[in-house]
Amino acid sequence: MTILVTGGAGFIGSNFVIDWLAASDEPVVNLDKLTYAGNVHNLAPLAGDPRHIFVQGDIGDAGLVGALLAQHQPCAVLNFAAESHVDRSILGPGEFIQTNVVGTFHLLEQVRDYWAALDALAKAAFRLLHVSTDEVYGSLSASDPAFTETHRYEPNSLYSASKAASDHLVRAYHHTYGLPVLTTNCSNNYGPLHFPEKLIPLMIVNAQAGKPLPVYGDGQQIRDWLYVKDHCSAIRAVLAAGRLGETYNIGGWNEKPNLEIVHTVCDLLDELKPRADRQSYRSQISYVTDRPGHDRRYAIDARKIEQELGWKPAETFQTGIRKTVQWYLDHPDWVAQVQSGAYRDWVAMQYGQA
Ligand code: NAD
Ligand code: DAU
Repeated sequence: MTILVTGGAGFIGSNFVIDWLAASDEPVVNLDKLTYAGNVHNLAPLAGDPRHIFVQGDIGDAGLVGALLAQHQPCAVLNFAAESHVDRSILGPGEFIQTNVVGTFHLLEQVRDYWAALDALAKAAFRLLHVSTDEVYGSLSASDPAFTETHRYEPNSLYSASKAASDHLVRAYHHTYGLPVLTTNCSNNYGPLHFPEKLIPLMIVNAQAGKPLPVYGDGQQIRDWLYVKDHCSAIRAVLAAGRLGETYNIGGWNEKPNLEIVHTVCDLLDELKPRADRQSYRSQISYVTDRPGHDRRYAIDARKIEQELGWKPAETFQTGIRKTVQWYLDHPDWVAQVQSGAYRDWVAMQYGQA
């Protein structure tokens, strides 16, 4: 009962594959293009494990995807592969359209062909699970209720627009062809193996390097944070028992302004790895120009997945963020390895420093 995971060398995908193989003997074929965000070192705990088959390639490569499906006969395809960084989508949206929209389309076409040819039993058991984001719902005001699954799609960034397009394609393949799909829309993840361009790992890494901690605008934008392992357990729950064609919002009921997140990271570092001069890492905070079109607030109403599937996060924010900061302190080699040439080019372009 093999599963095919796309984007399994990225932040969430690699956490998912590692957790999957810790809990199950069902092999994983892991298809990842290895963009700047993909890192085979994330999968080091699986080295030599015959249950993990890594293939470098593009979800938009119809020939490759078709051949992998034919060879491995998976009972499910989980699509994590995407361009995922909002700031990069502002500077260059092309790759986002190519992977998130066109790539997802090619993947869906190959999966449809494969699924259509399965025998009745395998056909009934098959699932395509598409991993999406809360950003497709747009931005909330302070008093708006949290996003439910029926909130209208109002994507504001090139990233969220491309993810919204992919969600619509997945939905249409279900309604038009009967493809057995599930879609998840999750809030902001944090945890081990998070690429240090995103807020929390960037703050941890910059703080230790004595660099500024860049807070966009007034730092009062709100995100709803979920520990990555809890996102992975939610995906497993949806795959196992989600109703076909349905979408499930995933979140931790944990809304916080960005500045509070940065303060929390600084306070944990003050405790776990104090600066030599005994000043707080908070003194490194630097307010910088806001992100264009910056969404003000996201919040997930997770009642559907909780009530239908009995899923709940295992971590609170306090336990999850402490584990996360500790993980980065314990893995300086991983951090040094991901700070490759492409990473340094990005930091220079975005923040004007290397
Ligand atoms: P990531 O950027 O860390 O990883 C993406 C992975 O996809 C990388 O390994 C990359 O090499 C791979 N990839 C990119 N283009 C590809 C292509 N054309 N073919 C095959 N592989 C390709 O992203 P992430 O944070 O792990 O996010 C994974 C998924 O979860 C994405 O679909 C994202 O939209 C969604 N999501 C992320 C968050 C979050 O907070 N990070 C929250 C909700 C949903
Ligand atoms: O909501 C889910 C989304 O969360 C996912 O779909 C995306 O793939 C993921 O990247 C994330 O998007 P965000 O834009 O919310 O994440 P990011 O870490 O880039 O930024 C979090 C917040 O912190 C956001 O309000 C912007 C702000 N920020 C970010 C960076 C990198 C800063 O203030 N300074 C920074 O340097």
